[in-house]
Amino acid sequence: MVAKRLLLLLAFAGLAGPVLADNSLTISSPNQQIQLGVVHRDNGDLMYRVFYKGKAVITPSGLGMKLNNPAVSLIKFDLQSVDSAYTDETWTPVWGEQSRIRNNYKQLLLKLRDRSGSGILLQIVFRVFDDGVGFRYIFPQQDKLNHFIIGEELSQFGMTGDHQAHWIPGDYDTNEYAYYHSPLSKVDASGGGFAQEIHAKTFFDKNAVQTPLMMKTAEGLYINLHEAALLNYPAMNLVLNKETFIFTAHLVPDAVGNKAYLQAPFSTPWRTVIVSDKATEILASKLILNLNEPSRVPDADKWVKPQKMVGVWWEMHVGKSSWDYSGGQVGSQQATRVPHGATTANVKRYIDFAARHGIEGVLVEGWNTGWEDWFGQWKEDVFDFVTPYPDFNVQELQQYAAAKGVKIIMHHETSGSVTNYERWMDTAYKFMNRFGYEAVKTGYVGRIIPRGEHHDGQWMVRHFERVAAKTAQHRIMVDAHEPVRPTGLHRTYPNWLASEAARGNEFNAWSHGNMPDHETILPFTRLMGGPMDYTPGIFKIKMSYYNPSKTEQVHTTLSKQLALYVTMYSPLQMAADLPENYEARPDAFQFIKEVAVDWDDSKILDAEPGDYVIIARKAKGKPDWFLGAITDENARNFQTALSFLDADKKYVATVYRDADNAHWKDNPEAYVIEKFLVDAKTLLKLKLAPGGGTAVSLMPAKAEEIKLYKKYK
Ligand code: NOJ
Ligand code: CA
Repeated sequence: MVAKRLLLLLAFAGLAGPVLADNSLTISSPNQQIQLGVVHRDNGDLMYRVFYKGKAVITPSGLGMKLNNPAVSLIKFDLQSVDSAYTDETWTPVWGEQSRIRNNYKQLLLKLRDRSGSGILLQIVFRVFDDGVGFRYIFPQQDKLNHFIIGEELSQFGMTGDHQAHWIPGDYDTNEYAYYHSPLSKVDASGGGFAQEIHAKTFFDKNAVQTPLMMKTAEGLYINLHEAALLNYPAMNLVLNKETFIFTAHLVPDAVGNKAYLQAPFSTPWRTVIVSDKATEILASKLILNLNEPSRVPDADKWVKPQKMVGVWWEMHVGKSSWDYSGGQVGSQQATRVPHGATTANVKRYIDFAARHGIEGVLVEGWNTGWEDWFGQWKEDVFDFVTPYPDFNVQELQQYAAAKGVKIIMHHETSGSVTNYERWMDTAYKFMNRFGYEAVKTGYVGRIIPRGEHHDGQWMVRHFERVAAKTAQHRIMVDAHEPVRPTGLHRTYPNWLASEAARGNEFNAWSHGNMPDHETILPFTRLMGGPMDYTPGIFKIKMSYYNPSKTEQVHTTLSKQLALYVTMYSPLQMAADLPENYEARPDAFQFIKEVAVDWDDSKILDAEPGDYVIIARKAKGKPDWFLGAITDENARNFQTALSFLDADKKYVATVYRDADNAHWKDNPEAYVIEKFLVDAKTLLKLKLAPGGGTAVSLMPAKAEEIKLYKKYK
């Protein structure tokens, strides 16, 4: 780390503004647009606040910790020393939205001692970037006791007013909610409404929301609150005081109500405030990644591979086949039996399809014994992760896949029985190594067994890290479903390719689904913490296709499903629909085959949370660009400058767009594909249908293509 020590230039100076007369420290971001103020009052109180271009973003907000053991509240401090530092470095992620990332901030470190007489030492470190602020608590090595039980973290985030927010209810166990959009004063987490439909759900306070929380002020400032590097600590919910608009941290408890067990020296996760007057800059922010530690998987670049997959998967979600051998589906409650999906013959069909179309992975769910009893039954030993059903031939499929150059992706559904999984992990990963599996999709449906722990508590956060570390030892990549929400840990564990941790496309198959604005919100919320396994690419959009009595549908047009491969960033992208549905539309499937999953560069061209997102990305190590534009339920027109293209090249643009009469509800599968010659001066007109989207591939034109295609007008 190229950290340049700055001389201590921190004068104690009064910050402009009322109330805070006592000792203030200010520090500005490298380009000065963000200012952090810390106030240490004579009575020992400690507060911080944040300004963006001179406007308040975070009003004076408290800092501190309530301990259950020893029973002390760390809220009044003696300031022992203040230190500052400056960092400007550029690093290379193993994979990502861009191949180089700049990490540039000023740092302020406060060394404090509890004033109540406990003698406990606490430090708070702030990093001030041009796009926001991060801060964390550090319990340094103590004079006496080094073990602490946290009762609550007392961090506050004061808002300047009744901002518009995209929020989901505070919860200890799930984030699979549809988003609400309301002013802060109208937050009501008790409503349920669009609440998750299957998972364990733990409501605790009607004023609580989850992070990443996306807000917009009346003056047009965009503010995102979240956390970075969540390790060995519970996830943070935020509880809103509707009179003051101050959020206070609410950590997810354990089975007996404690929040976290720490041993000093210890650092908490970072609390993050990302702010800009442009929505596009929120999406471009790398602040959360920059606050995470560098990779702990030193040779990851040699074996971690961004990739696409198909899977014996959607056919279960649409009710064509079953996870369990007996064909009964979830808990054998399905009236009519359907065939078992993960048979040797059916998996071969997917392998053939993947091989034909250059798709690297084939996910297979329902291959192992246990699915008869997996759901809602509180059984501890449902799965052993190594015993296949009799109609799934592990060796035969290993050879078949290897001959075709395809990798089968393992599935470990734990059904929440995590102690059981921990007992099996080593054996299961050895089994994977032996039979040629390089990636695993994990799952944590239902309540965590043993009961009392929560998906987002410290106990599970430690489990998720253990899985990341242990799979890394076995050179295995991970895609975690129902995990704690991501906080940029894919920098530290690049083998942790993706997570679910939000309401994915699958909800559209069997619930009232995700409304057309859902995918325009996710980049501003869930994806701020890391890639999502959203599973785009559904071509057969209405579930009545599978069963005339079904009314469910994906709330999308077909073209929008293509655009999601660009707007919904992930190094692991599923082509989620059935092979036969792709083979029926090879022209549209071409985009999914060609789109990259790893990038040199990304340009957020235009965006508004809840309304639309337009992103262009350059394929890693190639001259090709891909553009995705999506809208909510409203039709929209844009003119997008292709100025990111190489100025001296001509490109063939293949535009996959909504047909003029397309509509997510009335006519979702109508699309048009057109090819044009474009260059860096082209202004591309995008016409998105209600619930629609456009996907564009941009590849350098060959000589014959320059003759063949018309110049775009
Ligand atoms: C929920 C996951 O999100 C889904 O993708 C998976 O198919 C089921 N659990 C079964 O494990
Ligand atoms: Ca799920």
